[in-house]
Amino acid sequence: MCGIVGYVGDNKSLEVLLGGLKRLEYRGYDSAGVAVIDKDGHMGTRKRAGKLQVLVDDLAERPLGNGATGIGHTRWATHGGPTDRNAHPHLSADGKLALIHNGIIENFSELKKELTDTGASFTSETDTEVAALLVGREYEKTGDLTESLRRVVGRLEGAFTLLVMHEDQPGIVVGARRNSPLVIGLGDGENFLGSDVAAFVEFTKRAVAIGQDQIVTIRPDSVEVTDFLGNTVESEEFEIAWDASASEKGGWSSFMAKEISEEPEAVANTILGRVVDGIVNLGELSPIGDDALKDIDRIVIIACGTAAYAGMLGKYAIEQWARVPVDVDLSHEFRYRNPIITPRTLVISISQSGETMDTLMAVKYATAAGAHVLSVCNTQGATIPRESHAVVYTHAGPEVAVASTKAFLAQVTALYLIGLHLAKARGTLSDNAIRENVVELQAVPDKIAEVLRVSQAEIGQLARWMTDIQSVLFLGRNVGYPVALEGALKLKELAYIHAEGFAAGELKHGPIALIEPGQVVFVVVPSPRDPDSLHPKVVSNIQEIRARGARVIAIAEKGDASVLPFADEVIPIPLAGTLFEPLLAVVPLHIFGMELAAAKGLDVDQPRNLAKSVTVE
Ligand code: G6P
Repeated sequence: MCGIVGYVGDNKSLEVLLGGLKRLEYRGYDSAGVAVIDKDGHMGTRKRAGKLQVLVDDLAERPLGNGATGIGHTRWATHGGPTDRNAHPHLSADGKLALIHNGIIENFSELKKELTDTGASFTSETDTEVAALLVGREYEKTGDLTESLRRVVGRLEGAFTLLVMHEDQPGIVVGARRNSPLVIGLGDGENFLGSDVAAFVEFTKRAVAIGQDQIVTIRPDSVEVTDFLGNTVESEEFEIAWDASASEKGGWSSFMAKEISEEPEAVANTILGRVVDGIVNLGELSPIGDDALKDIDRIVIIACGTAAYAGMLGKYAIEQWARVPVDVDLSHEFRYRNPIITPRTLVISISQSGETMDTLMAVKYATAAGAHVLSVCNTQGATIPRESHAVVYTHAGPEVAVASTKAFLAQVTALYLIGLHLAKARGTLSDNAIRENVVELQAVPDKIAEVLRVSQAEIGQLARWMTDIQSVLFLGRNVGYPVALEGALKLKELAYIHAEGFAAGELKHGPIALIEPGQVVFVVVPSPRDPDSLHPKVVSNIQEIRARGARVIAIAEKGDASVLPFADEVIPIPLAGTLFEPLLAVVPLHIFGMELAAAKGLDVDQPRNLAKSVTVE
């Protein structure tokens, strides 16, 4: 949460900062602010509650002098409401030092008391202001910005990325990080800092990730990274694989519309280069090694939100193919209950952003407890992969809309690839069986494209009819169950509608009491060709709710005539094997959530109260 950008270079800092904040706005959009040192050496700041556009409009009306040094921030409020005063940057007592922060300073009340007792006064309710005042005091003593920040970070508890600049030090921005993200962008005569590479991908493709407890000082011609004690640290440069245009809306009505249209590519690109002679071969798993993978006796998948539902699908596939027990845990539940971990446990974390604090803490816990830790992640240089033993990147491209869509499909794809790699390593599937599953997986992108082509308009129409709806239920069995949960989550996140996902078999154990005439229920129907005969059971469930007046919308295999008499609407999906159906059935639900929110006039990309990357626990 909170997006951070810093710049030193030529006289275009405002352009860089506002462009970077636009791309980082998914991280928080309660308020935004900038500080810039202009050509005459004066530092100006501007900060406004509301979305970035409020700040942009304000700057257009009352321009701030542009210059070569600046920092910018977009906020997701934690301490103190979303007001102008609580927006970042915050200033030192003399107003000459500006500081921005992502994270939470847990010992801020103690530090605030110390500052107040020694004469400081506060202008905001934030935890951040203590850091601005403390660094300001150190600067008065040392006149050295890097040293001042170093002295202060040692006193802070919690998670933070901090950027500071000082009016008397044009051409310098200093950053520090602990448990919150910070990446350097390397330019020519200019350098950048950002919460992620999206902040500066428009200007450079060369990046360096900063490690835990490190401090970076950027000047136009140099970048220096040290640890919190001042020892120089070697950092590795990487090339950003994303195009700047990939994180643009490019003519679509919303980022989400664009990202749903990219679902076929998200799957295809995640498979690309990972299949050799029809067999999955994930070289990325070599740091763990096939011997260890053969020896594991349990897998625990940890994730939050949509990623956790991807994890549930991973469980079905991995258990079936690799015959190893898989538990799926929400990261925050796993971390705080003394979970059982042995050296034969493989923990797989899933995170689009690679920064979700709950998942990061669970990963650190699992590593310390001796598990092998593998992460599935969509963002290069992110913290979670760096804290794991191995990483399988999903190649979904940048996902900007806050609610996850294409990344979900890429995560499921990555987990299926992991399942097939494990099956090979453990000898639980024959090469032929692996090849058959690979062929099925490779066919998924075209099938998703078909769902988008055939159903988009119809689902849009359905959503427009339902703008007054108060509650929607989603039912699914087996692999259809996580799809139902994902459908319900999308509706809550995007359209602010009460929605619940249930395992269809559980219906009669309680949820059926919710059914009254007119209740809309989406049902994910398994294929009638399903070898485990789940189809007739789900059709019976449909009859049960239909008999009680429910309005049924079935997502069913095309040509499945058996649901027609009982469903008010049928959304057809192409034929696929049981494990691959969810990758198709979820697509109409993503479209439905988006279209219903749009029909209600809501901001599809930035739903209220949410942030894409939740970097607080
Ligand atoms: C937030 C987002 C969700 C996302 C979850 C996990 O809650 O609103 O859409 O699924 O974080 O994010 P991650 O980056 O770890 O996948």
